[in-house]
Amino acid sequence: MDTRLCSVVLVLIVTAAAWLPLASSQNGVEGCSFEVIDGVVSTCDLQMNGTRFGEASWRTSSAATAIYLGGPKTDSQATNDSSPGQGGYVVALVSDMKGTQRPLKAWLLTNVSSATQPKGRCLEFAYAVSELGVSSLQVLLLTYTSPDVQEALENTSLPLTYTTRSLWEVRSSTQGQWKRAHVTFSTLDTHSLVFSASSNTRFSTHRGYAAVDDITFKGGPCDDDCMFDVDLCTWANTELGDDFDWDVGRSSGKRGTGPSKDQVSYINRHINIITGGYAYIDSGYPRRPYDRAILESRVLPPFTIQHCLHFWVNMNGGGLGKLRVFSRTTDGNGTDILLWGMWESISGTDSWNECQQTVASNEEFQILFEASVRVPGAGDISLDTITLTEGSCPSLPSGLKSSWVDCTFLVDTCNWSLEPPNGASLSRVLRQQHLQPARTHTVSLAEGGVKY
Ligand SMILES: *[C@@H]1O[C@H](CO)[C@@H](O)[C@H](O)[C@H]1NC(C)=O
Ligand SMILES: *[C@@H]1O[C@H](CO)[C@@H](O)[C@H](O)[C@H]1NC(C)=O
Ligand SMILES: *[C@@H]1O[C@H](CO)[C@@H](O)[C@H](O)[C@H]1NC(C)=O
Ligand SMILES: *[C@@H]1O[C@H](CO)[C@@H](O)[C@H](O)[C@H]1NC(C)=O
Ligand SMILES: *[C@@H]1O[C@H](CO)[C@@H](O)[C@H](O)[C@H]1NC(C)=O
Ligand SMILES: *[C@@H]1O[C@H](CO)[C@@H](O)[C@H](O)[C@H]1NC(C)=O
Repeated sequence: MDTRLCSVVLVLIVTAAAWLPLASSQNGVEGCSFEVIDGVVSTCDLQMNGTRFGEASWRTSSAATAIYLGGPKTDSQATNDSSPGQGGYVVALVSDMKGTQRPLKAWLLTNVSSATQPKGRCLEFAYAVSELGVSSLQVLLLTYTSPDVQEALENTSLPLTYTTRSLWEVRSSTQGQWKRAHVTFSTLDTHSLVFSASSNTRFSTHRGYAAVDDITFKGGPCDDDCMFDVDLCTWANTELGDDFDWDVGRSSGKRGTGPSKDQVSYINRHINIITGGYAYIDSGYPRRPYDRAILESRVLPPFTIQHCLHFWVNMNGGGLGKLRVFSRTTDGNGTDILLWGMWESISGTDSWNECQQTVASNEEFQILFEASVRVPGAGDISLDTITLTEGSCPSLPSGLKSSWVDCTFLVDTCNWSLEPPNGASLSRVLRQQHLQPARTHTVSLAEGGVKY
């Protein structure tokens, strides 16, 4: 049991008790570790009943009830099976999702909160997914569009309107083991986060579950994550050894190069507004061919446990250079090790591609993103939503996996050549799979947007 967290939560309850429910403390730590008090798992007033949203509900459980109810055999803070932990957790059971109509999902909602700070909030949590039955566990940002949210939530005869967008998703089983994850998010609207578990219709007869524990909110961004909505976060332009700098932008005003939207707005294109920014290199004048710009992480501690570096790439233009990821140990001889690389065939389109690379190091090190120019003015390379999470990168569904580099092209494959870390030259024309995004150049001035 994390007693430190509990005491912080208690202090918050005392100081925030007189506040309206909307006035969540933006920089303080809030959360729920689903403690068992007098044999009952405390839910910290989280909304476990999905009925109001047309979805199934989550339940509380614990190591003691897992045997007949289903769910992980230990609490997320247990170190081993013989000491399963005293705490509880929440679980979405496939058997509970059967009764509902349409996509078989269960929803758990966090407290209603007002707009986040520009640097966002950090949600941390533990999760476990069993082998079959659950096709995905997602974290959604639910934005309320009803005028009086609290009243609409309490009175079922009032209409409740909202929109959702996906912030995080896992599609692979953890074999019932607890894993930790975090999500950085920002919004101007009154919102809740939703843990949404979807059942796999092919295996819906199986007992399966998705479980969540140790939900914690704190001021954003999380650790070394960066959404590039305000600045470069803990990432920085290299002082020496490159030719120019990365910048933060919100929408490329140029035809044929640069992204029209940041990654989050792109994947939520039905909403059709720009909600954030991204990091990019401007290949225009005075840049010359082969100029390079390097974005570096802070000095990271040794990663003796593998971590997954996850990021999104937009390579739009007719004369793009390379984007490569290196690791650099600080007490070594300064040699950069190429981890990942992606370079142009000829051109790319305005789409965000999701990429990942497992990273480990016995020494302190830095991660570097190096983008280069090929044809000046025709090859802006952009990067967004970098996350570094413990654990090796999940294996990707085979249909989406390239043979050489872990990079999914969930949205658009364009015609990218992927270069393997060993430097052998390989190229492959990947077929285009999906629709192009709507080209919107709207900039939300309300969010301090600047047109680039
Ligand atoms: C939700 O709000 C209630 C009271 O308003 C608080 O006790 C609880 O800790 C909050 N839950 C989370 C997960 O922040
Ligand atoms: C959820 O709430 C509805 C009423 O809004 C109620 O009929 C239903 O039994 C509740 N479900 C659970 C699992 O508590
Ligand atoms: C299991 O964890 C408990 C508490 O952390 C510890 O005391 C015990 O030695 C562990 N048992 C094994 C077999 O590792
Ligand atoms: C719920 O809303 C309806 C419609 O506005 C209203 O008639 C009713 O009195 C409300 N119920 C409560 C308990 O506030
Ligand atoms: C630097 O370190 C790398 C990796 O350990 C090694 O392959 C290389 O030979 C070293 N170079 C020099 C000049 O020591
Ligand atoms: C990808 O390559 C094919 C064949 O060379 C070409 O027809 C297609 O237009 C290209 N797509 C893009 C997005 O460049």
